[in-house]
Amino acid sequence: MADQTAPPHQDAPLVLVTTQTGRPAWQVNGYAAVKALSRDARLADADPKLAHVRSEEPAVALDGGEEPIDSIGWARVLRRAFTPERVDALKPRIQQLVRDLLDDIAAGRRPPDLHNEFSMPLITLVSCALLEISEEDGYRTRAWWQALKTGNRAEAAEGQAAILSYVRNLYASRQREPGDDFVSALIAAQGPGAPYTEDALKFLTSLVSKGRETPTNALDWGIVLLLRQPDMYRSLVREPELVDSAVEEVLRLFPVISGKIQGPEGIRRFALSDFQFHANDIKRGDLMLLNVVAANMDDSVFPDSERFDIHRNPNPHLTFGFGPHSCPAARLARLELLVAFAGLLERFPTLRLSIDSADLRYRERPTSEGFESLPVTW
Ligand code: HEM
Repeated sequence: MADQTAPPHQDAPLVLVTTQTGRPAWQVNGYAAVKALSRDARLADADPKLAHVRSEEPAVALDGGEEPIDSIGWARVLRRAFTPERVDALKPRIQQLVRDLLDDIAAGRRPPDLHNEFSMPLITLVSCALLEISEEDGYRTRAWWQALKTGNRAEAAEGQAAILSYVRNLYASRQREPGDDFVSALIAAQGPGAPYTEDALKFLTSLVSKGRETPTNALDWGIVLLLRQPDMYRSLVREPELVDSAVEEVLRLFPVISGKIQGPEGIRRFALSDFQFHANDIKRGDLMLLNVVAANMDDSVFPDSERFDIHRNPNPHLTFGFGPHSCPAARLARLELLVAFAGLLERFPTLRLSIDSADLRYRERPTSEGFESLPVTW
């Protein structure tokens, strides 16, 4: 494995790049610039020249309506549904899941693979707890997603149809009989008439399919960062109170938008009007890529930024984005990482990788990146 944990420095605040589909874009790299543009009302997460295309590069140009598409309403719905109380209420369940998975690992074959036996099932099962769906359904939906990604055309079509129908049924059943679960909360948070149903269905679809990959990869990434430097892991065992700052440091170095394969990347935003930024003329409709990975390596904010430092404090990284569209599930993601690391440190104080970190297999498909397996020993 090449050193995937060292994102490149990007010094210029704004550079013109070409995306993998050949579209020109402004890549925004400096911390201050990324933060400023993340909450800049002159940018939206939808192309003002397109209708209903969000956070994605346009595939089809529709005739440009003059009204910008405002997705702030949906972002608010998400925030109302992801309340701190709802997330915190999941903590005992996450702790139980971590205990059970680590029990199985301790009793299972050696060497265990922390990706397939810990990170992946943990995040899958937490999403089941969030949605209040059965574990069986959690794995079923995951299998459909695998078929969609890796199967032949017929299998992919079947997988897609199965996921869509599962999500529509889930949504409809919670509409009929609301409970105390997240799907019911998402419906209630929309207010009368559930105006954001299509957005909710899209979100739930991604949550039961690919949406578990980011937290799984973040957890894997953290395990690798900690185990690559055994001193770091051991100091956390001695001082478990450092686990909060260790999680923040893992998140800072996590390449949430790596772009290694897909070309220049960043959180996508579109200019709603013409304006000047750092002496550059930005035109309405221009695509801007907010490169939070480069921003997290800005030495003016994170001294000695390439160093993985579990004591780093403050650590105002932008891994969850910033502003109105920042990740509404950041609290949940942090909780998952905290409970997972606390469990690992307690159960396996002498944990180490069982192969050289340079030999770890890293999946580099455009649709999903991450470690394929994490063999460990203790
Ligand atoms: C370590 C784990 C995670 C990371 C690093 C992460 C990061 C991000 C980032 C960078 C964004 C885009 C922010 C922007 O556009 O400004 C985002 C948006 C989003 N994330 Fe996360 N995320 C994580 C986990 C999750 C989880 C577990 C869920 C759901 C359970 C989730 C749901 C969402 C949703 C729904 C949005 C879109 C928000 C909107 O459109 O306003 N994320 N996340």
